[in-house]
Amino acid sequence: MTVGTAKEQVTSQGELARLDVERVRQDFPILQRQVHGQPLVYLDNAATTQKPRAVIDALSRFYEGSNSNVHRGVHALSQEATDLFESARQKIGRFLNTRKAEEVILVRGTTEGLNLVAQSYARPRLKAGDQILISGMEHHSNIVPWQMVCQQTGAELKVAPINERGELIMEEFVKLLSAKTKVVSVVHVSNALGTVNPVRQIVELAHRVGAIAVLDGAQAVAHAPVDVRALDCDFYAFSGHKLYGPTGIGALYGRAELLEAMPPWQGGGDMIKSVTFAQTIYNDLPYKFEAGTPDVAGAVGLGAAIDYLQAVGIEQVAAHEADLLAYGTQLLSDMEGVRLIGTAAHKAGVLGFVVEGAHAHDVGTILDSLGIAVRTGHHCAQPVMDFFNLPATARASLAMYNRREELDALAEGLREVVKVFA
Ligand code: ALA
Repeated sequence: MTVGTAKEQVTSQGELARLDVERVRQDFPILQRQVHGQPLVYLDNAATTQKPRAVIDALSRFYEGSNSNVHRGVHALSQEATDLFESARQKIGRFLNTRKAEEVILVRGTTEGLNLVAQSYARPRLKAGDQILISGMEHHSNIVPWQMVCQQTGAELKVAPINERGELIMEEFVKLLSAKTKVVSVVHVSNALGTVNPVRQIVELAHRVGAIAVLDGAQAVAHAPVDVRALDCDFYAFSGHKLYGPTGIGALYGRAELLEAMPPWQGGGDMIKSVTFAQTIYNDLPYKFEAGTPDVAGAVGLGAAIDYLQAVGIEQVAAHEADLLAYGTQLLSDMEGVRLIGTAAHKAGVLGFVVEGAHAHDVGTILDSLGIAVRTGHHCAQPVMDFFNLPATARASLAMYNRREELDALAEGLREVVKVFA
């Protein structure tokens, strides 16, 4: 793991300074509100994180002072908006350690990023007999786009199984790799189970058989440093809203030589150099993949979110969340009538569980009445639910502003649930 950038993140002894959670909480206005007359305990961060004042202000500042369309205007506001938009791209590039900012394609989020790779990289190249390998713990956004490509090309989708702890069975994964494998696409951190996959190893194994490696980073980027060059992956997708940024904006990293060789996915303004009825010349990277007016304010907000996360210190956030995860795991493991779903040795940020005799939605409703927000359902990962033979789970997911007391409140709430359904 890399070390955070701000000097104050390291103590004079050279140790990582502890995250000042109370100070961080002051930066998130929504955390001051009550729900059903109770202080909000927000544990639905894997669905979306709350936004710090810095992000909210960046959005307001943009609309109040710099709003304009990008790239196409000669007037001052358009140039200002363009500078802000492109500076957000550069921040994302530095955040992921891309070789150049042009390797960052601004998209709506992880889902759009993965669909772009499926349609623009895989669809033109794959044919009957080729294979795409994913894992048994994927979010629907890393299953359905590949199923669509398989239908379009005749390629076959292969799925590497998971074990009862929710870990990828690496021996089975290796067995499924062959010269037929053209794309390997796996989740970095599972949204339903919290499992952290050995993605560096997965990338290396994919490359060994000549496949490209695609990583779904939606649940990873807010919880630990990500370095796409160190990972050596070919594509990496994430969403801004799970990283304390706005909804509707995210990024796809792609290796420049692959992006250069790919056709555009969508046509329209901004992705062209010239258009006649006879012929269109496409624009250079990254604009070739950014047809239409982008979410300029969203990109600015995402840039502000990255600045904020880096100022707090991502290493400190990771250490704080690891402490919370261990604490919450112990609390829930000790509870009669509660079963954790997802007990991998290497996890981040997610506590999935079921309560004996209770449907997950009832669990979520009772917790909500106590001001505790958790997610219930299949978490857009129905095959994971099928594997555990469950219709749904409840999921508490963590962010930098959560504290142990909130996990105590969750445990207290679950004792109520257990009493009702005992
Ligand atoms: N993918 C999001 C989640 O895990 C919505 O909740």
